[in-house]
Amino acid sequence: MRLISLSVVYIALYTVAMVTEGKRVVILPMPFTSHTKYQTNVARALSKLGHEVWVTIPDHLVAKRVLDTTNLTVVEYNTPSGVLEEVMMSGFRDAYFKGEGDDWGLFLTLLKDHCHALLSNNTFFTQIRDIRPDFIIVDNIPNLKMMAVLAYRLGVPFAFVGSAYDPIQFRTPFSPAIAPVPLFPFTHRMTFAQRMQNSLIFLLSSLHDYSSYSDAVSRYAPEMPDVPLDLLVARAELWLVEMDHVLDYPRSTLPNVKLIGGTATGPAKPVPPPFKAFMDGASQGVVIVSFGSYILDLPKAVSDKIFTVLMQLPMKSVFRSNLTSPDPNKIMTSTWIPQNDLLGHKNTKVFVSHCGKNGQYEALFHAVPVVAAPVFADQGYNAQRMRSKGFAETVDIRTITGDDLKATILKVATEKSYKDAISKASEIFRIEFGVPMERAAFWLDHVMKYGGAYMRSAGQEMPFYQFICLDVILCYIGVLAVVCSLVGTCAYKGLKFIFRSQKHKTE
Ligand SMILES: *[C@@H]1O[C@H](CO)[C@@H](O)[C@H](O)[C@H]1NC(C)=O
Ligand SMILES: *[C@@H]1O[C@H](CO)[C@@H](O)[C@H](O)[C@H]1NC(C)=O
Ligand SMILES: *[C@@H]1O[C@H](CO)[C@@H](O)[C@H](O)[C@H]1NC(C)=O
Repeated sequence: MRLISLSVVYIALYTVAMVTEGKRVVILPMPFTSHTKYQTNVARALSKLGHEVWVTIPDHLVAKRVLDTTNLTVVEYNTPSGVLEEVMMSGFRDAYFKGEGDDWGLFLTLLKDHCHALLSNNTFFTQIRDIRPDFIIVDNIPNLKMMAVLAYRLGVPFAFVGSAYDPIQFRTPFSPAIAPVPLFPFTHRMTFAQRMQNSLIFLLSSLHDYSSYSDAVSRYAPEMPDVPLDLLVARAELWLVEMDHVLDYPRSTLPNVKLIGGTATGPAKPVPPPFKAFMDGASQGVVIVSFGSYILDLPKAVSDKIFTVLMQLPMKSVFRSNLTSPDPNKIMTSTWIPQNDLLGHKNTKVFVSHCGKNGQYEALFHAVPVVAAPVFADQGYNAQRMRSKGFAETVDIRTITGDDLKATILKVATEKSYKDAISKASEIFRIEFGVPMERAAFWLDHVMKYGGAYMRSAGQEMPFYQFICLDVILCYIGVLAVVCSLVGTCAYKGLKFIFRSQKHKTE
C-alpha cells in the first residue's frame, strides 16, 4: 500500500517536472510548403520532448492540407501579397520552361515585403505576444532573418533553423575558395573562374544586404534600444543548418552552428493505400517521379515525353502529377504522394527528381539512386553534388530526348555503382545523424535548458569589419604608409644632400 502511494507521488512529481520543464515555443517558417514541411517535423520532435509548440502558417498553405501538424498549434495568418510561392514560381519554374534564368530579384523583394507585412502588423504581433513564448525559432534564409526583431521586441531568446549556410551571418571564419554558394552548379573543387564568381557573391553580400533592412530594429521595434540587424541576428542561441558533409561538402562551423541536413526525412512508415497494393505488386521495381510540390503540371511536351518513357520501362512508376495516367496499372499518378515512405519501400529502384533539398535527403536516407532534373534555385547545385558523389546522373528535362531519358533512367536503376555509392553514404549519414529531426530537437531543447552562451564566439558580438580584421589591416597599412613615407623622405633628403655636396666639390 505504502509502495503504491509512494509511486503515485513519484509519478505525480515526475509529471509536474515534465510540465514545468516544457517551454512554449513559436516557430516562424518561410511561407513555403517545402520549408514549412521540415520545420513542422522539427516542431513535432520538440513537442515529443515535452514542449508546447506553435507554428505560424499562411492560410493558403493551411488550406492545402499537406502538412502534418499533429500535437502542434497552428497560428494562421493571411499574406496580403497573395500566395507567395505561386508568385515566386512565375520567376523560377515558368522561367525555366521558357528557357530563361531564375529571377532572384523577385525572390528578394517578395520575401522582404513579406517580413515587412508581418513585422508591421500589430494584430500578428499581439497574437504572438499572447502566446507568451519562452523561445522563438526563425527560418535562417537570409531574407527572413528580420523576423528575429519579433523575438527581440518580446525579449525572448531565439534560434535559426533553415537551409542557408551563411558564414557572414554566423560569423564563422570561412574561405570562398572552398564554400560554394548554391546559386551555381559548382562543387567544392572549383576552377579559377568558378572561384572568381563564388568570391564575388560573398564580397557583394558582405558589402550590402539586399534581402533585409539593416535598420530593421528601429523600423519595427522603435521602443527598443537600437541594434544593427546583423548584430541582433548574431545573438541567436543556435543555428541549425540544413546541410551536412555527407550529401554536401565539409564546411567550417562554430559550436553553435550545427550542420544537420535532412530534417524532412526519417524512417519510412508503411505505405498507405492505394499506393501499397501498387508498390507491393511491382516485381520489376518502381520508378518514383516527382518535381516537387510546386510543379504538378508540366508543359504538355515534357509530360508527354515522360509518359512515353515510363510506358516503355520494365518497371512501374509513381508520378506526382495532376495529369491522368495513360495506363493506371503501369503508371500511377497522384497530386500528393507519401514520398518518404515510397522511397523507403523495398521495390523502389530509382528516383527521378527535380532535386529539392527535402527529396534529396529522403533519397539519401533510403539509399535510392537519383536521376536529377533540376528546374530552379538551388536545384542545379543540389543535382551537381549528387552527381559528383556518384549517386546520380543529371538531365535537362526540358531539352533531353525521350530515348536519352529512358537510357539514363535504366542506367541509374541498373548499374551497381550508383546504388553502392548512395548506400554507403546513407549508412554513414544514419550513423552520424540518426533521425535528423530528433537531432535538431535535441539541440534546441539543449539551448532552451542551458542557453547558448557557452558556445558563443567573440566574433558573434563584433561588427563584421572587426571580424574580418579590416580595422587591423587598415591600421597596419596606415603604419606601413607612414613608415614608408618617412623612409622615403629621409632617403630623398639624404640623396639630395650627398648630390649637392658632390656638386659643390666638383665645382
Ligand atoms: C502526439 O502526442 C501524443 C501524446 O504525447 C503521442 O503519443 C503521439 O505519438 C504524438 N504524435 C505525434 C505524431 O508526434
Ligand atoms: C494583420 O494580420 C491579421 C492576422 O493574420 C490579418 O487578419 C490582417 O489582415 C493583417 N493586416 C494587414 C494590414 O496585413
Ligand atoms: C493541373 O494544375 C494546373 C494548375 O496547377 C491547372 O491549371 C491544370 O488545369 C490542372 N490540370 C488538370 C488535368 O487537373
